[in-house]
Amino acid sequence: MTLLERIGVELPVFQAGMGGGIAGAELAAAVSEAGGLGTIGILEPARLRKELAAARRSTGKPIALNLLLPFVRGGHKEAAREADVVITHWGAPKRMADRVWIHQCGSVEEARAAHVAGADGVIAQGLESGGHVRGSVPALELLERVRAGLPADFPVLLAGGIAEVADVRRALEAGAVAAIAGTRYLLSEESQAHDEYKRRLLDTEETILTELFGAGWPSAPHRVAPNAATERWLRGDNRGPSAIRLLNQVSGPLMSRLPQQLAARMARSQRPGMPFYGPAPPLQGDPDTTVDACPLYAGETVARIHELRPAVEITRDLAP
Ligand SMILES: Cc1cc2nc3c(=O)[nH]c(=O)nc-3n(C[C@H](O)[C@H](O)[C@H](O)COP(=O)(O)O)c2cc1C
Repeated sequence: MTLLERIGVELPVFQAGMGGGIAGAELAAAVSEAGGLGTIGILEPARLRKELAAARRSTGKPIALNLLLPFVRGGHKEAAREADVVITHWGAPKRMADRVWIHQCGSVEEARAAHVAGADGVIAQGLESGGHVRGSVPALELLERVRAGLPADFPVLLAGGIAEVADVRRALEAGAVAAIAGTRYLLSEESQAHDEYKRRLLDTEETILTELFGAGWPSAPHRVAPNAATERWLRGDNRGPSAIRLLNQVSGPLMSRLPQQLAARMARSQRPGMPFYGPAPPLQGDPDTTVDACPLYAGETVARIHELRPAVEITRDLAP
Protein backbone atom coordinates (compact mmCIF):
# COMPACT_ATOMS: atom_id res chain seq x y z
CA MET A 1 0.00 0.00 0.00
CA THR A 2 1.40 3.44 -0.88
CA LEU A 3 1.74 6.23 1.67
CA LEU A 4 -1.14 8.14 0.07
CA GLU A 5 -3.37 5.04 0.20
CA ARG A 6 -2.50 4.56 3.88
CA ILE A 7 -3.47 8.16 4.61
CA GLY A 8 -6.55 7.88 2.42
CA VAL A 9 -5.82 10.94 0.31
CA GLU A 10 -6.64 11.09 -3.41
CA LEU A 11 -4.32 13.80 -4.72
CA PRO A 12 -0.54 14.06 -4.29
CA VAL A 13 -1.03 17.64 -3.08
CA PHE A 14 -0.48 18.58 0.57
CA GLN A 15 -1.01 21.99 2.18
CA ALA A 16 1.89 22.89 4.49
CA GLY A 17 1.08 23.34 8.15
CA MET A 18 1.71 27.03 8.77
CA GLY A 19 2.03 27.68 12.48
CA GLY A 20 0.96 30.40 14.85
CA GLY A 21 -2.59 30.54 13.49
CA ILE A 22 -2.17 30.90 9.70
CA ALA A 23 -3.35 27.40 8.77
CA GLY A 24 -6.40 26.55 10.85
CA ALA A 25 -9.48 24.39 10.47
CA GLU A 26 -11.06 26.33 7.62
CA LEU A 27 -8.04 26.05 5.32
CA ALA A 28 -7.17 22.45 6.22
CA ALA A 29 -10.75 21.22 5.82
CA ALA A 30 -11.12 22.93 2.42
CA VAL A 31 -7.93 21.32 1.09
CA SER A 32 -8.85 17.86 2.39
CA GLU A 33 -12.40 18.17 1.11
CA ALA A 34 -10.96 18.91 -2.37
CA GLY A 35 -8.95 15.66 -2.24
CA GLY A 36 -5.56 16.94 -1.02
CA LEU A 37 -4.22 16.75 2.53
CA GLY A 38 -5.03 19.74 4.72
CA THR A 39 -2.77 20.47 7.68
CA ILE A 40 -3.36 22.51 10.82
CA GLY A 41 -0.26 24.42 11.97
CA ILE A 42 1.03 24.44 15.54
CA LEU A 43 -0.89 26.34 18.23
CA GLU A 44 -1.12 25.83 21.95
CA PRO A 45 -2.48 22.32 22.62
CA ALA A 46 -6.01 23.33 23.66
CA ARG A 47 -6.45 25.61 20.62
CA LEU A 48 -4.97 22.96 18.34
CA ARG A 49 -7.51 20.41 19.53
CA LYS A 50 -10.32 22.91 18.97
CA GLU A 51 -9.15 23.55 15.39
CA LEU A 52 -8.90 19.83 14.76
CA ALA A 53 -12.43 19.29 16.07
CA ALA A 54 -13.71 22.14 13.88
CA ALA A 55 -12.01 20.63 10.81
CA ARG A 56 -13.63 17.27 11.63
CA ARG A 57 -17.04 18.92 11.64
CA SER A 58 -16.39 20.27 8.11
CA THR A 59 -14.97 17.16 6.47
CA GLY A 60 -14.80 13.42 6.93
CA LYS A 61 -11.51 13.35 4.99
CA PRO A 62 -8.10 12.95 6.68
CA ILE A 63 -6.52 15.92 8.44
CA ALA A 64 -2.85 16.37 9.35
CA LEU A 65 -1.32 18.29 12.19
CA ASN A 66 2.06 20.00 12.05
CA LEU A 67 4.32 20.21 15.08
CA LEU A 68 7.46 22.32 15.29
CA LEU A 69 9.55 20.14 17.60
CA PRO A 70 11.28 22.97 19.55
CA PHE A 71 7.83 24.17 20.67
CA VAL A 72 6.23 20.85 21.55
CA ARG A 73 4.79 20.71 25.09
CA GLY A 74 3.03 17.90 26.95
CA GLY A 75 -0.47 18.52 25.59
CA HIS A 76 0.66 18.43 21.97
CA LYS A 77 0.97 14.65 22.09
CA GLU A 78 -2.72 14.29 22.99
CA ALA A 79 -3.60 16.59 20.09
CA ALA A 80 -1.39 14.53 17.78
CA ARG A 81 -3.31 11.39 18.69
CA GLU A 82 -6.48 13.02 17.34
CA ALA A 83 -5.01 13.71 13.88
CA ASP A 84 -4.73 11.28 10.97
CA VAL A 85 -1.19 12.32 10.07
CA VAL A 86 1.48 14.07 12.13
CA ILE A 87 4.08 16.15 10.30
CA THR A 88 7.08 17.27 12.35
CA HIS A 89 9.77 19.82 11.59
CA TRP A 90 13.00 21.15 13.08
CA GLY A 91 15.11 19.15 15.48
CA ALA A 92 15.89 15.50 16.14
CA PRO A 93 13.13 13.49 14.42
CA LYS A 94 10.79 11.99 16.99
CA ARG A 95 7.44 10.19 16.75
CA MET A 96 4.74 12.14 18.60
CA ALA A 97 1.81 9.71 18.30
CA ASP A 98 0.81 6.35 16.93
CA ARG A 99 -0.24 7.92 13.64
CA VAL A 100 1.22 8.17 10.14
CA TRP A 101 4.32 10.27 10.77
CA ILE A 102 6.20 12.39 8.23
CA HIS A 103 9.25 14.50 9.12
CA GLN A 104 10.28 17.57 7.10
CA CYS A 105 14.05 17.54 6.51
CA GLY A 106 16.78 19.76 5.16
CA SER A 107 19.54 17.21 4.58
CA VAL A 108 20.22 13.56 3.77
CA GLU A 109 21.52 13.03 7.31
CA GLU A 110 18.29 14.33 8.81
CA ALA A 111 16.21 12.20 6.42
CA ARG A 112 18.20 9.12 7.41
CA ALA A 113 17.73 9.95 11.11
CA ALA A 114 13.95 10.19 10.54
CA HIS A 115 13.95 6.85 8.74
CA VAL A 116 15.87 5.23 11.61
CA ALA A 117 13.48 6.82 14.15
CA GLY A 118 10.57 5.07 12.39
CA ALA A 119 9.07 7.84 10.23
CA ASP A 120 6.65 6.71 7.53
CA GLY A 121 8.02 9.27 5.08
CA VAL A 122 10.12 12.43 4.84
CA ILE A 123 9.69 15.79 3.16
CA ALA A 124 12.73 17.19 1.35
CA GLN A 125 12.41 20.92 2.03
CA GLY A 126 14.22 23.11 -0.47
CA LEU A 127 16.04 26.38 0.05
CA GLU A 128 13.38 28.25 -1.94
CA SER A 129 10.72 27.47 0.71
CA GLY A 130 8.84 30.06 2.69
CA GLY A 131 8.88 30.11 6.49
CA HIS A 132 11.69 28.44 8.44
CA VAL A 133 14.11 26.78 6.07
CA ARG A 134 15.99 23.73 7.25
CA GLY A 135 18.18 22.99 4.26
CA SER A 136 20.64 24.70 2.01
CA VAL A 137 19.95 23.31 -1.47
CA PRO A 138 17.00 23.66 -3.88
CA ALA A 139 14.15 21.20 -3.41
CA LEU A 140 14.64 19.06 -6.54
CA GLU A 141 18.34 18.67 -5.78
CA LEU A 142 17.66 17.69 -2.17
CA LEU A 143 14.94 15.27 -3.31
CA GLU A 144 17.44 13.48 -5.55
CA ARG A 145 20.05 13.27 -2.77
CA VAL A 146 17.55 12.11 -0.14
CA ARG A 147 16.11 9.44 -2.44
CA ALA A 148 19.63 8.19 -3.18
CA GLY A 149 20.38 8.01 0.56
CA LEU A 150 17.29 6.00 1.58
CA PRO A 151 15.78 2.65 0.57
CA ALA A 152 14.14 2.89 -2.88
CA ASP A 153 10.63 2.28 -1.56
CA PHE A 154 10.79 4.84 1.28
CA PRO A 155 8.33 7.69 0.55
CA VAL A 156 9.90 11.09 -0.03
CA LEU A 157 7.79 14.22 -0.54
CA LEU A 158 8.94 17.62 -1.77
CA ALA A 159 8.37 21.12 -0.37
CA GLY A 160 9.55 24.37 -1.94
CA GLY A 161 8.77 25.93 -5.30
CA ILE A 162 5.22 24.56 -5.65
CA ALA A 163 2.77 27.11 -7.08
CA GLU A 164 1.39 25.50 -10.26
CA VAL A 165 0.55 22.06 -11.59
CA ALA A 166 3.76 21.98 -13.66
CA ASP A 167 5.73 22.23 -10.38
CA VAL A 168 3.82 19.27 -8.93
CA ARG A 169 4.43 17.25 -12.11
CA ARG A 170 8.16 17.98 -11.97
CA ALA A 171 8.30 16.83 -8.33
CA LEU A 172 6.44 13.59 -9.09
CA GLU A 173 8.58 12.89 -12.17
CA ALA A 174 11.65 13.30 -9.95
CA GLY A 175 10.28 10.59 -7.65
CA ALA A 176 8.37 12.50 -4.94
CA VAL A 177 5.16 10.80 -3.81
CA ALA A 178 3.49 14.18 -3.17
CA ALA A 179 4.20 17.91 -3.32
CA ILE A 180 3.67 20.36 -0.44
CA ALA A 181 2.72 23.99 -0.97
CA GLY A 182 2.85 26.66 1.73
CA THR A 183 2.97 30.13 0.16
CA ARG A 184 0.36 29.20 -2.48
CA TYR A 185 -2.08 28.32 0.35
CA LEU A 186 -1.07 31.30 2.47
CA LEU A 187 -2.49 33.28 -0.45
CA SER A 188 -5.87 31.57 -0.21
CA GLU A 189 -9.10 33.07 1.02
CA GLU A 190 -9.13 30.69 3.99
CA SER A 191 -5.66 31.37 5.44
CA GLN A 192 -5.72 33.48 8.58
CA ALA A 193 -2.80 35.72 7.55
CA HIS A 194 -3.45 39.47 7.99
CA ASP A 195 -5.13 40.94 4.88
CA GLU A 196 -2.36 43.50 4.39
CA TYR A 197 0.27 40.70 4.66
CA LYS A 198 -1.53 38.87 1.85
CA ARG A 199 -1.89 42.04 -0.21
CA ARG A 200 1.81 42.84 0.05
CA LEU A 201 2.78 39.32 -1.01
CA LEU A 202 0.61 39.62 -4.12
CA ASP A 203 2.65 42.70 -5.04
CA THR A 204 6.14 41.47 -4.21
CA GLU A 205 8.62 39.36 -6.17
CA GLU A 206 11.44 39.48 -3.64
CA THR A 207 12.20 37.28 -0.64
CA ILE A 208 15.02 37.33 1.89
CA LEU A 209 16.54 34.47 3.88
CA THR A 210 17.25 35.97 7.29
CA GLU A 211 17.58 35.27 11.02
CA LEU A 212 16.13 38.63 12.04
CA PHE A 213 12.88 37.30 13.56
CA GLY A 214 14.73 34.88 15.83
CA ALA A 215 13.70 35.91 19.35
CA GLY A 216 12.69 32.60 20.94
CA TRP A 217 13.88 30.61 17.93
CA PRO A 218 17.53 31.56 17.25
CA SER A 219 19.78 30.20 14.49
CA ALA A 220 16.76 29.17 12.46
CA PRO A 221 16.89 30.86 9.03
CA HIS A 222 13.52 31.91 7.64
CA ARG A 223 12.43 33.22 4.25
CA VAL A 224 10.34 36.38 4.36
CA ALA A 225 9.15 39.19 2.11
CA PRO A 226 10.61 42.65 2.81
CA ASN A 227 8.90 45.04 5.24
CA ALA A 228 9.96 48.05 7.31
CA ALA A 229 11.79 45.85 9.85
CA THR A 230 13.91 44.07 7.21
CA GLU A 231 14.59 47.37 5.44
CA ARG A 232 15.68 48.97 8.71
CA TRP A 233 17.98 46.18 9.92
CA LEU A 234 19.19 44.10 6.98
CA ARG A 235 21.83 46.32 5.51
CA GLY A 236 24.80 44.36 4.28
CA ASP A 237 24.06 41.07 6.04
CA ASN A 238 20.68 39.43 5.37
CA ARG A 239 21.04 37.30 8.49
CA GLY A 240 20.60 40.46 10.55
CA PRO A 241 22.92 42.52 12.80
CA SER A 242 25.22 40.30 14.87
CA ALA A 243 24.10 42.06 18.09
CA ILE A 244 20.47 41.04 17.45
CA ARG A 245 21.48 37.47 16.66
CA LEU A 246 23.54 37.34 19.86
CA LEU A 247 20.60 38.70 21.87
CA ASN A 248 18.38 36.05 20.31
CA GLN A 249 20.89 33.33 21.25
CA VAL A 250 21.10 34.50 24.85
CA SER A 251 17.37 34.96 25.33
CA GLY A 252 16.47 31.86 23.29
CA PRO A 253 16.04 29.28 26.07
CA LEU A 254 13.74 31.59 28.07
CA MET A 255 11.80 33.04 25.13
CA SER A 256 11.14 29.65 23.55
CA ARG A 257 9.29 28.56 26.69
CA LEU A 258 6.88 31.48 26.67
CA PRO A 259 3.28 30.41 26.18
CA GLN A 260 2.38 31.07 22.53
CA GLN A 261 -0.38 33.46 23.49
CA LEU A 262 2.09 35.62 25.43
CA ALA A 263 4.57 35.48 22.54
CA ALA A 264 1.77 36.55 20.19
CA ARG A 265 0.89 39.44 22.53
CA MET A 266 4.52 40.55 22.52
CA ALA A 267 4.54 40.30 18.72
CA ARG A 268 1.58 42.66 18.52
CA SER A 269 3.59 45.32 20.35
CA GLN A 270 6.68 45.02 18.12
CA ARG A 271 7.79 48.07 16.15
CA PRO A 272 10.11 48.26 13.11
CA GLY A 273 12.64 50.38 15.00
CA MET A 274 12.80 48.13 18.08
CA PRO A 275 15.07 45.25 17.12
CA PHE A 276 13.72 42.32 19.12
CA TYR A 277 11.52 40.29 16.85
CA GLY A 278 9.80 36.98 17.52
CA PRO A 279 8.58 34.49 14.91
CA ALA A 280 4.80 35.13 15.22
CA PRO A 281 3.35 36.26 11.84
CA PRO A 282 0.67 38.97 11.44
CA LEU A 283 -2.80 37.43 11.63
CA GLN A 284 -6.28 38.66 10.81
CA GLY A 285 -7.42 40.91 13.65
CA ASP A 286 -3.86 41.94 14.62
CA PRO A 287 -3.04 45.66 14.52
CA ASP A 288 -1.83 46.91 11.13
CA THR A 289 1.53 47.82 12.75
CA THR A 290 2.40 44.10 12.94
CA VAL A 291 2.73 43.93 9.14
CA ASP A 292 5.87 46.06 9.31
CA ALA A 293 7.26 44.58 12.53
CA CYS A 294 6.54 40.82 12.22
CA PRO A 295 7.84 38.29 9.69
CA LEU A 296 6.02 38.15 6.35
CA TYR A 297 6.95 34.54 5.62
CA ALA A 298 6.98 33.81 1.90
CA GLY A 299 8.69 31.38 -0.45
CA GLU A 300 10.26 32.21 -3.79
CA THR A 301 7.03 31.18 -5.52
CA VAL A 302 5.57 34.50 -4.33
CA ALA A 303 6.97 36.02 -7.55
CA ARG A 304 4.56 33.81 -9.52
CA ILE A 305 1.41 34.21 -7.41
CA HIS A 306 -0.78 37.20 -8.20
CA GLU A 307 -4.22 36.41 -6.85
CA LEU A 308 -5.93 35.17 -3.72
CA ARG A 309 -8.01 32.10 -4.46
CA PRO A 310 -10.25 29.67 -2.60
CA ALA A 311 -8.26 26.68 -1.29
CA VAL A 312 -10.52 24.22 -3.12
CA GLU A 313 -9.62 25.79 -6.46
CA ILE A 314 -5.93 25.93 -5.61
CA THR A 315 -5.98 22.24 -4.74
CA ARG A 316 -7.84 21.21 -7.89
CA ASP A 317 -5.51 23.28 -10.06
CA LEU A 318 -2.40 21.76 -8.46
CA ALA A 319 -3.65 18.22 -9.13
CA PRO A 320 -1.74 16.57 -11.99
C1 LIG B 1 3.72 31.28 6.43
C2 LIG B 1 4.46 30.01 6.55
C3 LIG B 1 4.50 29.36 7.77
C4 LIG B 1 5.14 28.13 7.90
N1 LIG B 1 5.08 27.48 9.09
C5 LIG B 1 5.55 26.20 9.17
C6 LIG B 1 5.33 25.43 10.35
O1 LIG B 1 4.74 25.89 11.32
N2 LIG B 1 5.78 24.16 10.35
C7 LIG B 1 6.44 23.60 9.27
O2 LIG B 1 6.79 22.43 9.30
N3 LIG B 1 6.70 24.32 8.18
C8 LIG B 1 6.25 25.59 8.09
N4 LIG B 1 6.45 26.30 6.93
C9 LIG B 1 7.24 25.70 5.84
C10 LIG B 1 6.39 24.73 5.01
O3 LIG B 1 6.22 23.53 5.72
C11 LIG B 1 7.01 24.43 3.65
O4 LIG B 1 8.28 23.87 3.79
C12 LIG B 1 7.10 25.65 2.75
O5 LIG B 1 5.94 26.42 2.83
C13 LIG B 1 7.34 25.25 1.31
O6 LIG B 1 7.67 26.35 0.52
P1 LIG B 1 6.58 27.30 -0.19
O7 LIG B 1 6.08 28.20 0.89
O8 LIG B 1 7.38 28.05 -1.18
O9 LIG B 1 5.51 26.45 -0.77
C14 LIG B 1 5.82 27.55 6.78
C15 LIG B 1 5.79 28.22 5.56
C16 LIG B 1 5.13 29.43 5.43
C17 LIG B 1 5.11 30.11 4.07
